[in-house]
Amino acid sequence: MTRQLHLGVFIYPGGHHIAAWRHPNMRAERITELDYYIEAGQLAERGKFDLFFVGDALNAREREGRVVGEIAINNLDPVSVISAVGSVTQHLGLVATLSTTYNEPASIAAKFATLDHLSGGRAGWNVVTTLDDKAALNFSRDQAMEKSLRYERAASFVDAVTALWDSWEDGAAPQSNGRIRAPDYRSSFFSVEGPLGMPRPPQGWPVLVQAGGSPPGRDFAARIGEAIFTAQGKLSEAQAFRADIHARMVARGRDPKSVKIMPGLSPIIGDTETSARRREEEFAELAHPSVGVWMLTEMTKFRLYDHPLDAPLPTRDIRAFNPALGQNALGLLERAEREPMTIRNAARIMVRSRVHQSFVGTPDQLADHMTQWLHEGGSDGFNILPPLFPDDLALFVDHVVPALQKRGVFRRDYTGPTLRDHLGLSRPPGRPSTRT
Ligand SMILES: Cc1cc2nc3c(=O)[nH]c(=O)nc-3n(C[C@H](O)[C@H](O)[C@H](O)COP(=O)(O)O)c2cc1C
Repeated sequence: MTRQLHLGVFIYPGGHHIAAWRHPNMRAERITELDYYIEAGQLAERGKFDLFFVGDALNAREREGRVVGEIAINNLDPVSVISAVGSVTQHLGLVATLSTTYNEPASIAAKFATLDHLSGGRAGWNVVTTLDDKAALNFSRDQAMEKSLRYERAASFVDAVTALWDSWEDGAAPQSNGRIRAPDYRSSFFSVEGPLGMPRPPQGWPVLVQAGGSPPGRDFAARIGEAIFTAQGKLSEAQAFRADIHARMVARGRDPKSVKIMPGLSPIIGDTETSARRREEEFAELAHPSVGVWMLTEMTKFRLYDHPLDAPLPTRDIRAFNPALGQNALGLLERAEREPMTIRNAARIMVRSRVHQSFVGTPDQLADHMTQWLHEGGSDGFNILPPLFPDDLALFVDHVVPALQKRGVFRRDYTGPTLRDHLGLSRPPGRPSTRT
């Protein structure tokens, strides 16, 4: 059989487009209602998606008293959301993000083992070290932990969690107490006696997902990742990323086939290319200028909130204020020095920029594009970021999934019950120390 694509849907309240919350089809009150998530989960299962994925953010999207970002709220608690979705689906994998910086191994091990039991082996944990440094201020700390230390802690955290998951002999029933061994895990970060208070999860281990792109993030991915979420804009960059992860895995003695790399992809589709482009324009026009100004301020660290929108972008002041601007910021400033550019114009450019790859076109064009990435080693699948929920997920399921199936690169039905089955990942054996 030709290699198959793996598909995840990345849930985000409202949708992934920065202006989704201003879209006329958007009913903002739905994002705190159960049926919103149930609808998205059932749609994804109808589309035979491998998994349903919810991120976490541990502080509000707020700076200096202003609500910023795509939408005023974060995701709801990811474990609660996927538990609810799991109860109304039968096959869909359920991936929640939880931080190793602001949790303890024993509580995370119990949460995902529980979810794996209750869902019949569909759980996955997106292991993050937490993106936003301001989260530290909500967890009794003055500042975030330094990045390499955060990743050392994450590695030890995962070792402790997997030791807990393995503390019951594989297949041992709840009454077989004799076949439980406390892992008694100790490192400079944690001491966890164990054992876990429930049998080994149906998948052995819930699937370990990773999403960090820095060198320590990639090393961590190579060490523990079974599925990797990543932002890749171009095929050549995606190929290089995938090759780099594979090389790091080989260096650690892991088989590159034991990981599925799934870049983010935000599709804006239409019956024709022209109608898809029109939709893209409509979305961009909905964005409020203040969001673009916030993005500019985040990128340059130069405070632009108090400048009139129709003043020229103060490129000289920005350069003087921040001599260590990144590539994207420098590109924008150089452009503003070549052509007249107001702050409003620059804000418009910002709201059109994307961290994740976006694709505008027809379902067939998108299916060809995804198939090309699969065949040319850019990815093992995609994490789909619908610009607007649930509308764009429904469009994808009804029009793109059949086009992928027709090309023979995506399943017509699930072949097994667990998330490991969907992803083609093997089940980790129990540990010898726990076998009798
Ligand atoms: C698809 C995707 C989803 C992510 N979800 C989260 C999340 O929910 N919470 C979080 O703190 N970070 C999240 N991240 C950020 C990563 O965990 C990581 O912190 C970030 O990519 C920076 O990488 P680095 O830690 O290697 O520098 C996500 C990243 C990607 C690509």
